[in-house]
Amino acid sequence: MKHFLKETDFHAPELGEVFALAREYKRTRGQPRTGVLAGQTWAMIFSKSSTRTRVSFEVGIHELGGHVLFLNRNDIQLGRGESIEDTAKVLSRFVHGLVVRTYDHADVTRLAAASTMPVINALTDFLHPCQIYTDAFTAAERWAAPGGDLVAALKGRKIAYLGDTCFNMANSWILGAALFGMKISLAGPKGFEPGAEIQAQLKADGLKADYHFTTDPYEAVAGADLVYTDVWTSMGQEEESKKRLAQMQPYAVTAKLFAAAKPDALFMHCLPAHPGEEVEQAVLDNPRCVIFDEAENRLHMQKAIMAMLAKSARK
Ligand code: CP
Ligand code: NVA
Repeated sequence: MKHFLKETDFHAPELGEVFALAREYKRTRGQPRTGVLAGQTWAMIFSKSSTRTRVSFEVGIHELGGHVLFLNRNDIQLGRGESIEDTAKVLSRFVHGLVVRTYDHADVTRLAAASTMPVINALTDFLHPCQIYTDAFTAAERWAAPGGDLVAALKGRKIAYLGDTCFNMANSWILGAALFGMKISLAGPKGFEPGAEIQAQLKADGLKADYHFTTDPYEAVAGADLVYTDVWTSMGQEEESKKRLAQMQPYAVTAKLFAAAKPDALFMHCLPAHPGEEVEQAVLDNPRCVIFDEAENRLHMQKAIMAMLAKSARK
């Protein structure tokens, strides 16, 4: 049973197929449905808020011909202490796939281990792989020649990641960069160096830990093809928000900092954004800011991911 819990759950040879399928879904959107999930019902269990992830999965499942059940964690018995394993086993008897957003990454791996249906990680504190695949696709759309190889277009490109350099988005980009053959420089406050968990993951996947951490944001953006940031206070960290706001101030993506990257560099943010905090409004207004393409592409990429998992589940 194939799951998508981390970037490396698709191997290098499969990446071309996933990206090409996303491009095809984007090109043919609105044409008669492909029906790869026809007759299927997928469930989504969310323990955190969401706009893009929830809506793109719900629309995507519908567009692939499937039916979707959105389950707030607190509305099901999981929220009252039913075990993760029993929840996975019971849901496996009813539905064909599961999309999960939660805190502890181990909860997603436990759900997948006890499931007989594909499980997709829709964000944990550790990783947000659907976002990284989408962002890489969004960049590749611009970097590849028309109709050219999207995955190959990523190779050797440099990402500058600013702000909170030791949470889900940074971790996911470290893993994604290693998988796609990209370089990544992360700039954040002292004490926010990428942690042991992501290093262990790279090692487990047999990937070289080829990232660079600095406290100097200008060092990180020098020569960057892509400048990336995320909120300074992620879901679940609200109590630390005042402290984080002060600590991360030097890492705000201002127009001046963005101008220090390559002249054709893209700006990305997974959203939601807080203009005036991690990113200046002028950067969001720059034509090289592609945040809404990233948001749209969640739909196309996740349809491709679900189609690949559904295909492997049928084997
Ligand atoms: N980027 C992202 O995952 O957004 P949501 O939290 O709105 O789903
Ligand atoms: N780091 C953010 C990402 C939101 C999509 C969070 O976890 O809240």
